[in-house]
Amino acid sequence: MYVCLCKGITDSQLRDAVAEGSTTFKEVKQQLGVGAQCGKCIPLALAILAEETAKTALYYEVA
Ligand code: FES
Repeated sequence: MYVCLCKGITDSQLRDAVAEGSTTFKEVKQQLGVGAQCGKCIPLALAILAEETAKTALYYEVA
């Protein structure tokens, strides 16, 4: 689904960015440009980022 309509960024792109090592909103914003225009997507982008980074942390705890 589209998260950022201004930049045409999907949740899959955000999840991929976290999988590739981005762990902060600043990093994801620099990489994809999410939230760089109107900013309406920022709350949803932050929620997805939190969800994905939690999964990554859990993976490293279990592994
Ligand atoms: S919807 Fe993401 S910057 Fe506007």
